[in-house]
Amino acid sequence: MPATEVEKKDTGVATAEKKDALTVIDRRTGKSYDIPISDGTIRAIDLRQIKTDPQDFGLMTYDPAFLNTAACKSRITFIDGDKGILRYRGYPIEQLAEKSNYLEVAYLLLYGELPTKAQTEEWVHNITFHTMLHESLKKFMDGFNHDAHPMGMLIATVAAMSTFYPDARHIHDPVSRQKQTWRLIAKMPTLAAIAYRHSLGMSYVHPSNDLSYTENFLNMLFKIPSASWRPNPVLVKALDVLFILHADHEQNCGTHAMRGIGSSHTDPYSAVAGAAAALYGPLHGGANEEVLKMLQEIGSASQIPAFIKEVKEGKGEKRLMGFGHRVYKNYDPRAKIIKKIADEVFEVTGRNPLLDVALELERIALQDDYFVKRKLYPNVDFYSGLIYQAIGIPTAAFTVLFAIPRTAGWIAQWLEMLADPEQKIARPRQIYLGPAERDFVPLEKRV
Ligand code: CMC
Repeated sequence: MPATEVEKKDTGVATAEKKDALTVIDRRTGKSYDIPISDGTIRAIDLRQIKTDPQDFGLMTYDPAFLNTAACKSRITFIDGDKGILRYRGYPIEQLAEKSNYLEVAYLLLYGELPTKAQTEEWVHNITFHTMLHESLKKFMDGFNHDAHPMGMLIATVAAMSTFYPDARHIHDPVSRQKQTWRLIAKMPTLAAIAYRHSLGMSYVHPSNDLSYTENFLNMLFKIPSASWRPNPVLVKALDVLFILHADHEQNCGTHAMRGIGSSHTDPYSAVAGAAAALYGPLHGGANEEVLKMLQEIGSASQIPAFIKEVKEGKGEKRLMGFGHRVYKNYDPRAKIIKKIADEVFEVTGRNPLLDVALELERIALQDDYFVKRKLYPNVDFYSGLIYQAIGIPTAAFTVLFAIPRTAGWIAQWLEMLADPEQKIARPRQIYLGPAERDFVPLEKRV
């Protein structure tokens, strides 16, 4: 057969369905293949039939950092990055931020529907009654240095929780899964508050069952045992909205870690610890801390042009933190909502002077060719830190405030992964470029 002639290989795609197929011609062999397309996707495994000879392993896809690979089917969160759309279970984030509350949104993410009145009562009750920590867990946290990073404390303590709840290993038992879900969502704020107070050398405040989820968190953070204190309702509402905005974001780095670790059927505490570790990085949830440091480093609006110049000349090493996103090539819808809440918070707390630097930085960047060409817009982390700071939360604890609400998303994605018959242990392939087989060289003969 001449090299240019195409031999048709029947791959089982019926003629009527062929319009939903991708025809691939392998120029190495001249063979043609019809690869089925469904949901705008081809299955990478269908490429394995494309071989140069029967001994050939078959074609793989190479996609470092998963730029164009769907690793799962999901019904939880929808993002249209070009249009700046974010929906949880179909509900626009703007509506949820305005009309819902974090615990209701957590329920929606986990179970697919907004809870009825009776379901709400039961759900809130179960979360409220799992907020206490085992006393030995507190002792475990006491072992950290006073200057331990709160995210390091959170990651380690969540992992340690798996030793306190050995029943969590029964991941195929729906009763156990439900219990760990309550425990994780309920105890994350308690852990976070203890981490914060430990760094100050202050005694821990017990959770209060008569307070809402967010109010209770602020109470555990800031209450002075000797005085009566109630968090400002505007700040409670603002933090609750921030929790809603951070609750899930489909297949980001942390969620991918949650699914990947969970795919080996480990317990959910170990998987959440891994997901939180991924979140900790400055390119992911750690960016909120970095934004504040960056704004402080810039200091005043007059220094912005010099900073922008450095970023542009930094060839990717110095970044404008809180800008850019793998999926959003438009304004992050969460950043828009946060910008609005910031005004309400600053009315109570007084204006954060760094806000003017941030606003000017955004204005200049959005007009600069470098950022325009690369479609770099403010993301969720650009303004959130200013609010956290105004509420009184120290910079090092910002990412913890991301991890608390994201726990609902991590668990929702973990539950979906476990129920998906197509999912198996995550195990990517590689392209091996190392040495070919060679014989061991004894020490005395090595040069
Ligand atoms: N400042 C300056 N340049 C940037 C930035 C930035 N913040 N983000 C991307 N770029 C440039 C990058 O250098 C590259 O330029 P070139 O094409 O010349 O090499 C181009 O834009 C594409 O960047 P990328 O690194 O290939 O994009 P990515 O999709 O891999 O990275 C990102 C996404 C979020 C990691 C990145 O935009 C970034 O590092 N942003 C700053 C950190 C940040 O704010 N992270 C929070 C993300 S939102 C919260 C979350 O979900 O965690």
